[in-house]
Amino acid sequence: MEVPISELQLDEEASEAVVPGPDSADEGAIAIDDGPAAADPASLTPRQIVAELDRYIIGQSAAKKSVAIALRNRWRRQQVEDELRDEILPNNIIMIGPTGVGKTEIARRLARLAGAPFLKVEASKFTEVGYVGRDVESMVRDLVEISINMVRGEREDEQRETAARRVEERLLDLLLPPAADADNDQPDADEGGHRHFLVGSSGVAEEEADDELTARRRRTRDKLLGLLQDGKLEEREVEVEVTDTAMPVLDLQAPGMDSLDWNIGELLQDMMPKKTRRRRMSVAEARRVLFSEELDKLIDMEEVIDDALDRVENMGIIFLDELDKIAGERGGGGPDVSREGVQRDLLPLVEGSTVQTRYGMVATDHVLFIAAGAFHVSKPSDLIPEMQGRFPIRVELRSLTEEDFARILTEPRNALLTQYSALVATEDLQLEFMEEAIREIARIASEVNQRTENIGARRLQTVLTTLLEDVMFDLPDSGAGGTLTIDGEFVRERLAAIAEDEDLRRYIL
Ligand SMILES: Nc1ncnc2c1ncn2[C@@H]1O[C@H](COP(=O)(O)OP(=O)(O)OP(=O)(O)O)[C@@H](O)[C@H]1O
Ligand SMILES: [Mg+2]
Repeated sequence: MEVPISELQLDEEASEAVVPGPDSADEGAIAIDDGPAAADPASLTPRQIVAELDRYIIGQSAAKKSVAIALRNRWRRQQVEDELRDEILPNNIIMIGPTGVGKTEIARRLARLAGAPFLKVEASKFTEVGYVGRDVESMVRDLVEISINMVRGEREDEQRETAARRVEERLLDLLLPPAADADNDQPDADEGGHRHFLVGSSGVAEEEADDELTARRRRTRDKLLGLLQDGKLEEREVEVEVTDTAMPVLDLQAPGMDSLDWNIGELLQDMMPKKTRRRRMSVAEARRVLFSEELDKLIDMEEVIDDALDRVENMGIIFLDELDKIAGERGGGGPDVSREGVQRDLLPLVEGSTVQTRYGMVATDHVLFIAAGAFHVSKPSDLIPEMQGRFPIRVELRSLTEEDFARILTEPRNALLTQYSALVATEDLQLEFMEEAIREIARIASEVNQRTENIGARRLQTVLTTLLEDVMFDLPDSGAGGTLTIDGEFVRERLAAIAEDEDLRRYIL
């Protein structure tokens, strides 16, 4: 299968990859390590899965339990003998709960944990285009792309060192081009006849000279290697052969054409002969260019695609957000008809069908669907019966309390207060939150949620940005250093007035 590798490769990723230094993002840094912590994520027990989720999500134990079982059942299914295996269907789940209580977060973390390709889509999106049944299959195609990027990323990580070594060799070749004559052992065709004759008298001497030359070259090369590794040659210019991507990637996709999934621009680009030209650039830039070239060579895209498709089929998770928006009361006219239409379109996917993607056919039988919605107006029972049957597990997420807020502020690995402390620490200030301050923030957030709109944990964001606005603004000028302690008084001072005032509250918090 012909695979246009250039499309799959994200340039930023490639250039990031150039610095193969230890990427041990330290705990305090804002880049939060959220990779799976367990050795073999595939075989986590439900209890372990819940424990992992607990590190990020406060409360919601019923939901965590359900998703943990669903994930484990998948693994169990893989252990079942062939014949029965295909009969075992995923435990699709509906998560019911108000906004901002962790629905998306749970599904996302679960996918990370399992190393599963994960796609989040809004079910309601499929009505907005204007006609019923906008290509729901595009979900699967998107999931395939995600999966390919994921697998490719993993392979890249594996090959990073090898590629870096090869790049080093190539850079040395560029810095010290192999002397054309010395390396050319082939006698010239014209001279062929004379050559033996000539060598007869001076052969020994010539060979010795050659040896010395080679040895000298080796020494120079070693020296250069040392300089290169010490980063002393970064500014040096070299000439590199680059592949021209003369034509910009045109997105010629017409609306409604996505069912074909062919981007004409990309197609044309693939058909164009690849032009190469030599370009002068610094060693630093050359390293970037060569690195992604070497990675491309080291990675077998066919194998990546096979693996990626397999992962989608057996591990894929599709998060169908806002399912309640397409669950209208049946029998009514108007928009309800199209809602039902969308459900009917979704049904085959959820039930299991085969979708044509540009990389091959993908069966959706074992893709796990996790749906979510507030279900304030409509109820799961308003879904068409077939759909209800396909989401046998319902789980409710409850509204978050003041108590929860206090924990959410501090406990998760990516807790908001940890994030702020890390941000502030980059300018040499330690930020410390007193127990009382945390309680006060939680109280105000919960109060504002009650008095205006309940936006769940997202309220903490708005409250915190308001609270710390001055700190963030003044930070670079304040000379920094030392510790800023945020106590209850500090919080009340900044927030009380706003929280009390109806209008201010509405606009600011
Ligand atoms: N129980 C929780 N524990 C920790 N953080 C939470 C919790 N609930 C929500 N959050 C945080 O609040 C934000 C919003 O949560 P999330 O995206 O999961 O909401 P949601 O339930 O999917 O809401 P919506 O229905 O609006 O999509 C996230 O940044 C998440 O980290
Ligand atoms: Mg959500």
